[in-house]
Amino acid sequence: MKKLIVNGAEQLYGEVSSGGAKNAAVAIIPATVLARGRCVLENVPDIHDTELLFSMLRAMGATVEKLSRTSAIIDTSTLTESTVPYELSKHMRASYYFIGSLLGRFGQACVSMPGGCNFGVRPIDQHIKGFELLGAEIRIENGLIYADTEGLQGAHIYFDQVSVGATINVMLAAVKASGMTVLENVAKEPHIVDLANFLNSMGADIRGAGTDVIKIRGVDVLHGTDYSIIPDQIEAGTYMAAVTATGGNVLVQNVIPKHMECITSKLEEMGAKVIVFDDAIRVIRTGKLRWTTVKTSPYPGFPTDMQAQVCVCMSLAKGTSRLTESVYETRFFGYCAELESMGANIKINGKTATVVGVEELYGATVFAHDLRAGAALVIAGLSAQGTTQVEDIHYVERGYEDLIGKLTALGADIRRVED
Ligand code: EPU
Repeated sequence: MKKLIVNGAEQLYGEVSSGGAKNAAVAIIPATVLARGRCVLENVPDIHDTELLFSMLRAMGATVEKLSRTSAIIDTSTLTESTVPYELSKHMRASYYFIGSLLGRFGQACVSMPGGCNFGVRPIDQHIKGFELLGAEIRIENGLIYADTEGLQGAHIYFDQVSVGATINVMLAAVKASGMTVLENVAKEPHIVDLANFLNSMGADIRGAGTDVIKIRGVDVLHGTDYSIIPDQIEAGTYMAAVTATGGNVLVQNVIPKHMECITSKLEEMGAKVIVFDDAIRVIRTGKLRWTTVKTSPYPGFPTDMQAQVCVCMSLAKGTSRLTESVYETRFFGYCAELESMGANIKINGKTATVVGVEELYGATVFAHDLRAGAALVIAGLSAQGTTQVEDIHYVERGYEDLIGKLTALGADIRRVED
């Protein structure tokens, strides 16, 4: 069992750099299958999820050569398999992006049903609806998803639900469909735009990414490309929330400030001072935090992936905050009880948590039930009196690049131990 030992009540000072965006990388790496050639990727986050995707590519016949910790050459010209090995794909949700890219390349795919973070039911009906409208047949048997097509045809697809995953997966297939595909009610997250930019740099014809409607004119051939992945909005937001909770003064580098507006505005409301530069954001927190209200929603709204981290800030703020979740209703259950064991006062009623601020949190043994919940518990530990043990940190390591090294450089007292 791996755990983190966090000695709290230290303020954070210094500079930290956000890595490449996890949720862009986990789409772009499977997208390289469409290239039938050599892609050079830079600013790839050095996390378990990207390593696992590289293993899947290698197992299917591609070559992946790491040029540095955060860059790699991926050559998919030798990739022959349209089945992603179950033992690898079952561990992570984003392995299902291979359905879209393998369908586009081979007209068939076999991938396990999605694993990944466990915060309630996460259906894939909108992915299936999109693939079927493009002319694929989908079967789910024994935990595996099989997709087959005689040839993908462009289609008009209206998603019933705004979904990051469905938008990405259907885009991956549609770039190789014949004719025009129009996707409506799509997700607008920065990683959707980044994937579209990557595919366009491979020769795809995608317009409108970042708006509600994406138009894709299918092409016969896509080629290799060199591409640098955007910075991680949520990683940067996590460090901003950390300094807001602990107090201190931190410059978060390698950010796109536009992507951070939904987060900066809330942290400012709570009393943090935020100074925005071209590609960096300084967060300073000296006084007491104030209560606020937050409702999560798809981009450009406040991200659900920052819900848990802002809840820690609310727990330490003066007054009563309200936090409403509109994407994953059960996400509160991943960490609120753990925060309460550290002294937080949180009442959950359906989609809303009422958080009554307390003077201080205190150290406890807590369990990370998912990636962002784990990050929030680390922040809680940093701001608490005493020592916190965060157990089950494999979730955190899936998605945060060198979390311990980056926090230690800011003055945090945090170490990883293995029983
Ligand atoms: N949904 C459906 N049907 C579908 C797909 C989604 O009903 O076919 C629902 C979901 O149940 C949810 C909502 O639509 O209520 C939005 O889900 P979405 O598909 O947007 O989420 P996702 O693609 O499964 C990605 C991120 C998550 C992030 C969400 C929301 C990746 C690999 N994962 O998940 O990231 O929380 O979008 O922004 O991109 C994380 O990074 O910690 C993480 C969990």
